[in-house]
Amino acid sequence: MLGSKNVLVVGTGTIGEPLIGLLCNFKAQLGIDDVLFHKRTPLLTDRSKVQNLLRRGARLVTDKDRVSGFESMGLKIEMTTEEALEASRVVVDCTPSGNAMKERWYEKYEDSTDLFIAQGSEFGFGKQYARGINDEVLVPGEDRFLQVVSCNTHNLSSLIKLFGLGDEGPGNLRNGRFVCMRRSNDISQDGSFVPSPQVGGHKDARFGTHHARDAWHLYRTKGDAYDLNLFSSAVKVNTQLMHVIHYYLQVEKPVTKEELAARAVADDRIAVTYKTTANSVFSFGRDHGFCGRILNQSVIPLDCTHVSEDGTEITGYCFTPQDGNSLLSSVAAAVWGLYPETYDKIVQCLRPYFFQEV
Ligand SMILES: NC(=O)c1ccc[n+]([C@@H]2O[C@H](COP(=O)([O-])OP(=O)(O)OC[C@H]3O[C@@H](n4cnc5c(N)ncnc54)[C@H](OP(=O)(O)O)[C@@H]3O)[C@@H](O)[C@H]2O)c1
Repeated sequence: MLGSKNVLVVGTGTIGEPLIGLLCNFKAQLGIDDVLFHKRTPLLTDRSKVQNLLRRGARLVTDKDRVSGFESMGLKIEMTTEEALEASRVVVDCTPSGNAMKERWYEKYEDSTDLFIAQGSEFGFGKQYARGINDEVLVPGEDRFLQVVSCNTHNLSSLIKLFGLGDEGPGNLRNGRFVCMRRSNDISQDGSFVPSPQVGGHKDARFGTHHARDAWHLYRTKGDAYDLNLFSSAVKVNTQLMHVIHYYLQVEKPVTKEELAARAVADDRIAVTYKTTANSVFSFGRDHGFCGRILNQSVIPLDCTHVSEDGTEITGYCFTPQDGNSLLSSVAAAVWGLYPETYDKIVQCLRPYFFQEV
């Protein structure tokens, strides 16, 4: 018998798999009755993953025409997609096809399901959201579709907040420029590796790449005053470890490097570090994070920050904690869907995976 506060995760890839595990581990603290997960393709290579998610208490869902494929591999299907959508209060889409899924499935279940959440690639799915950036704009009952922005967009948005806006607000940031040095693929993925750095185009006339565009939209949910001057570029590098962002911010109110360091240390969504390599930061996450994930928005190597002599130009680097920041926002959004008044307190159970220093 299912409870009433059920969460369905669609997709078991790089984001879906750890999210299902996280929801199962913290089910009681997060106030979730049942964690359901949808897997589309019955694959022997994925059987061990599914078996372990079942062992951790999640319930397997697939499309009607895929049921026999899973059963022939010895995997018990608890529900079809239709039944799971009917039974779930919140659906977290973790596929690169969230917009298509919205059209095919989600819009038909708006009466039974309170909230649908999609991930970074699904621009247009719903209101952009990143934990700690625009929580105050979420409207219970009205926001039924949310898009958790991508991991690099989380990172650059947190830098904008910390160093660009500070206490002064949107008028303080003259402009923000970002170069996202992206790992080729995740360690869980076999495809898409590049043998050498591969530079990307600037398809967006105003923002360069989707990272600055999405950050602009994220901030714009906070009001018309947030018409930020942002631009981003992206280059894929031949590593599977962490993304690194190079940033350059011009601000109105002069600052010192010491003031910026104090802000970073005081912000519990930011981790500071004296490490300078992606492998050492990644390795810390592997040993101390949740399934290897650091849930902070950004990891900033403070010693590498530069402030111009007049205090108005800030340059530096930061590490993007893989998909950890998207995972945190996905959990926070899902719990908001169940408990809009108290979600903020509820998600504090994930505090052990936030670090002040990495
Ligand atoms: N990778 C990251 O570090 C990262 C970080 C932040 C955000 N994101 C975002 O998260 C989303 C998913 O990325 P990912 O890297 O996790 O992808 P992924 O590893 O390729 O996994 C995709 C998953 O989606 C399922 N899927 C794909 N199309 C589907 C469809 N039409 N219907 C049902 N299931 C479908 C696949 O199921 P089957 O294998 O069973 O067919 C697979 O489980 C994207 O929006 C991405 O931008 C990714």
